[in-house]
Amino acid sequence: MIEIIIEATKTKTSPNFLIQDIPGTSGRLDVIIRCILAINSLPTFIKNNIIFTTILNGAPDPPKLFKFYFSKLNFPDDEINAALFFKKLIEKTMKIDITDAENVHNSNKIEINPGIIYIRSDIINYLKKIMIKEFPIIFLHESGNSFRKNIIPYLKLNDYSNLYVIIGDQSGYNSQTYKFLEDNFRKFKLKGNKSYLSSQCIVYLLYELMLIGFF
Ligand SMILES: C[S@@+](CC[C@H](N)C(=O)[O-])C[C@H]1O[C@@H](n2cnc3c(N)ncnc32)[C@H](O)[C@@H]1O
Repeated sequence: MIEIIIEATKTKTSPNFLIQDIPGTSGRLDVIIRCILAINSLPTFIKNNIIFTTILNGAPDPPKLFKFYFSKLNFPDDEINAALFFKKLIEKTMKIDITDAENVHNSNKIEINPGIIYIRSDIINYLKKIMIKEFPIIFLHESGNSFRKNIIPYLKLNDYSNLYVIIGDQSGYNSQTYKFLEDNFRKFKLKGNKSYLSSQCIVYLLYELMLIGFF
């Protein structure tokens, strides 16, 4: 199982964005939608082993964390309907209040939609909870060590069947999150000295994992 985690640093936590201009009015929800669509288009044997977690951190009411379980998820296959889907999800969160971020893996999570868990947590508190499980956690960054050369030895030191990977959004990471990641986890870069879109990184990452028989 792989969990891919992205903090959507500026994505709105209210549903008042325009479907006619998703990138310009939602705080780049389109970046997150493209990540989900990229995973959703993969063969079932891969996507059933993926959880995609995004933490919306934009105004007016951050943070809002959503976990998408692709084994159970029925998600639209185009960007417009995906944005409408997100509008409804965010509307639902406005009727719920879960404030105790400390209980991320306990009771304070809600299945807000089939295959989607909602938690009121920021990324750092969420990662602190995951760290207790002792599965490998890495993050992707253009300045990291080569993923291809280093991931197998790294995974061998850990549990090979579970991996958490953090990816930045269109602005990379916010400074507080980046410091936390640098202090706690290993940093890897994908093949080629380029800065890729977040959704593109997911595809490259899963391809690399397929090459080493992760799925
Ligand atoms: C569009 S990039 C962010 C670019 C942003 N302008 C910056 O300076 O960080 C989105 C994210 O994809 C990941 N990424 C992009 N290219 C990568 C590469 N070559 N290797 C590893 N991760 C990469 C990083 O996590 C990055 O934060």
